[in-house]
Amino acid sequence: MATSRTVLVTGGNRGIGYAIAERMLADGHRVAVTARSGEGPAGSLTVRAEMTDAASIDAAFTEIEQQLGPVEVVVANAGITRDTLLLRMSEEDFSEVIDTNLTGTFRVVKRAAKGLLKGRFGRVILISSVVALYGSPGQINYSSSKAALVGFARSLTRELGGRGITANVIAPGFIDTDMTAVLPEQQQQQYLSSIPAGRFGDVAEIAGAVSFLAGDDAAYISGAVIPVDGGLGMGH
Ligand SMILES: NC(=O)c1ccc[n+]([C@@H]2O[C@H](COP(=O)([O-])OP(=O)(O)OC[C@H]3O[C@@H](n4cnc5c(N)ncnc54)[C@H](OP(=O)(O)O)[C@@H]3O)[C@@H](O)[C@H]2O)c1
Repeated sequence: MATSRTVLVTGGNRGIGYAIAERMLADGHRVAVTARSGEGPAGSLTVRAEMTDAASIDAAFTEIEQQLGPVEVVVANAGITRDTLLLRMSEEDFSEVIDTNLTGTFRVVKRAAKGLLKGRFGRVILISSVVALYGSPGQINYSSSKAALVGFARSLTRELGGRGITANVIAPGFIDTDMTAVLPEQQQQQYLSSIPAGRFGDVAEIAGAVSFLAGDDAAYISGAVIPVDGGLGMGH
């Protein structure tokens, strides 16, 4: 039986985050999710938090610490897209995505860090995207925010790697969720034809990679980018 940990999944009320929370519960961990609306899966603790607001993240951590103990595994999953081509992209489209996906991750990991250091154990798992390193037209804001997570995890590894803390990135390809459902049919078909596996991924396949990185077997893996993309990014 793997060691039971206190896990936080941001954006755990739907999509990939919900599936990660379900898997972490099945693995025997104590699981909290942040949500702006709705709830995490049965058996998890749902706390309210807005990724663009450090005070709400602080309050969420305090509530989790009181109810489940210090957070040991942080899964920074909450994220948004605001897709449009560069010439049409407003500064607001750009900064809103950076503020949620990148600065939001910074706010969460910074709040978690003291507890991880105190416990001399931590697993920081950042949910990036295949488009971080592959590029994607219409996603300059989003791919920039996701590429930055690689530098984030690697710098964190160099800062805290000696204290029992690992930091890794998961780069999902196209996964069946609300985020991909809004893409035009023609674009979905185009993506599909470029994926060697010939299909979109399932949320459970991302959760499986998180389960591995959070588990005892991954103690010596840090600063890695793990693609879960049906071969689309060819290992990047
Ligand atoms: N689906 C894919 O193909 C795919 C591929 C690569 C990477 N990813 C990444 O995987 C992660 C999850 O994606 P998904 O497909 O599951 O997305 P989703 O179904 O759109 O869910 C996004 C989650 O993030 C939360 N969130 C967004 N903005 C937030 C904010 N400002 N404060 C707090 N929570 C916020 C949402 O909360 P609300 O319900 O309150 O809005 C929701 O729980 C994202 O980081 C995404 O970029 C997805």
